[in-house]
Amino acid sequence: MTILVTGASGNIGSRLVATLARSGYPARGSSRDATTLRLPAGVELAELDLTDSGPSAAKALRGVEAIFLYPVIGTIDAFVAAAVEAGVRYVVLLSSPAAYEVGEFDRPIGRIHRAVERAVADSGLEHTVLYPSWLATNTRRDWADQIRATGRVAMAFADAAVTPIHPEDIAEVAAHLLTQKTFRSRMQILTGPRSMRMRDAVAIIGDVLGVEVTVDDVTREQAWELDQGRIPRPILESLLDVAAATVGQTASVTNTVERITGHPARSLRSWLDANRGDFQRA
Ligand SMILES: NC(=O)c1ccc[n+]([C@@H]2O[C@H](COP(=O)([O-])OP(=O)(O)OC[C@H]3O[C@@H](n4cnc5c(N)ncnc54)[C@H](OP(=O)(O)O)[C@@H]3O)[C@@H](O)[C@H]2O)c1
Repeated sequence: MTILVTGASGNIGSRLVATLARSGYPARGSSRDATTLRLPAGVELAELDLTDSGPSAAKALRGVEAIFLYPVIGTIDAFVAAAVEAGVRYVVLLSSPAAYEVGEFDRPIGRIHRAVERAVADSGLEHTVLYPSWLATNTRRDWADQIRATGRVAMAFADAAVTPIHPEDIAEVAAHLLTQKTFRSRMQILTGPRSMRMRDAVAIIGDVLGVEVTVDDVTREQAWELDQGRIPRPILESLLDVAAATVGQTASVTNTVERITGHPARSLRSWLDANRGDFQRA
């Protein structure tokens, strides 16, 4: 029986298909555009938009026993119904602590994640929801362009607390849950190994690059202007609120990664070591 990995082009999904392929489990990776998806040898390819339950959903779900489900924006009820119809037995759903954190669960990011959680729960499918902390890949998404261009990072609330988690650890946890029955609880809260301030994360980037990377502290309003509409306003509002609320705090750390994978959670530095080229000028 096959494991379907949605979001297989993403930071987490791409590692998950690689992990499953290495372990020899029959896997199928999906993308909305199959022509651009590159998969490891032996992994099947499917074209699938989770918000569209047409014939492509039935095709992608043929022979599938378990799914890694990516939390897309939009309704996935029809896809989940198609999964039940296809005989799927178990789902690992990627979600976000925004789905339950105070001040977030009733804001846009929380609502998006709660909608996919509700669709899966209402389907009656056995499932585990993953709640990873701040992704190590956020450093590239949010700061790499600035660091390459100027060697500096402008940010509001640089003293906000995060516990960066390595995408490989999330993928390993998901692979374990999808292939073995131990640890299949309703939810698993995953974090990196330690709490740090955003400015500490920037300092680690500088250390890995062997240069000083300066943090330019900006106000909330300046953060707006700098973003130039890249992130929709309600989402950026929520992100800034979350950052503001954790200034001066210590972010919680769980031992879930170690309990499930058998090794300690990987550090932010290890992710940066492997991806330093993304922060360096060509
Ligand atoms: N940023 C954080 O700190 C944080 C913390 C906790 C949880 N999370 C969750 O983790 C997610 C990011 O994970 P990531 O870094 O692995 O993602 P990513 O690299 O941004 O990739 C996004 C993936 O979603 C797929 N996708 C988007 N819309 C889709 C649709 N309608 N149908 C099917 N697939 C769709 C894309 O597939 P194609 O483009 O190939 O179709 C792509 O593979 C966030 O969106 C959030 O839900 C984030």
